Amino acid sequence: MEKQKETIYFITGNNNKFNEIKNLFQKEDLNYEIRQSEIKTTEIQATSIKEVALFKLNSVRGKLNGSYFIEDAGFFVDIPLNGFPGVYSNYVLNTIGNKGILDLIRDYDETKAHFKAVIALYFQPLSETHVFEGIVEGTLAKTIRGRGGFGFDPIFLPADLPNRTFAELTVEEKNNVSHRGKAWRKLVEYLRETD
Ligand code: IMP
Repeated sequence: MEKQKETIYFITGNNNKFNEIKNLFQKEDLNYEIRQSEIKTTEIQATSIKEVALFKLNSVRGKLNGSYFIEDAGFFVDIPLNGFPGVYSNYVLNTIGNKGILDLIRDYDETKAHFKAVIALYFQPLSETHVFEGIVEGTLAKTIRGRGGFGFDPIFLPADLPNRTFAELTVEEKNNVSHRGKAWRKLVEYLRETD
């Protein structure tokens, strides 16, 4: 008899993130079904994405039945901004935005940037918390380009597809190389091992 699928919640208010993960999830033959939960989490300002992610995850302990995960990401301009905005990514996007970032780097020929994603999972059958990380390296575009994606996607050129910004890729293409896709594939590996 086929085993009944368990629900695993992705707690996020960001529909773009949920759609990316849903797209990845559909390719896997997993014994889970995935649902979005918009339950309120508590976000802290910390010095690492992992710290933010774990705090957020623990802030909903006891409020959901079953397994659940959250995902926290950051955008780091390594050259020439020494990793800025990093943990301040959301604030910077909402204040100076992509145009503001491009203004800061306008006089530099060489740029280097990366996204980092941390998925923090509470796995109910084992009452365990696990963290899965993914990084994508790339450079900055000279102008804002593309209509897809969200956040900093229109200014990021991934090293693996250096002619297009994340916002010029399909969800599938972005997932194949992205920080979130990489973290997600580690989560899938974990779920398969524990099945
Ligand atoms: P969050 O805290 O994980 O939601 O992300 C911090 C900031 O980075 C937000 O402003 C997001 O819009 C942005 N961000 C997160 N993931 C991505 C991505 O995959 N592409 C572009 N921007 C992103």
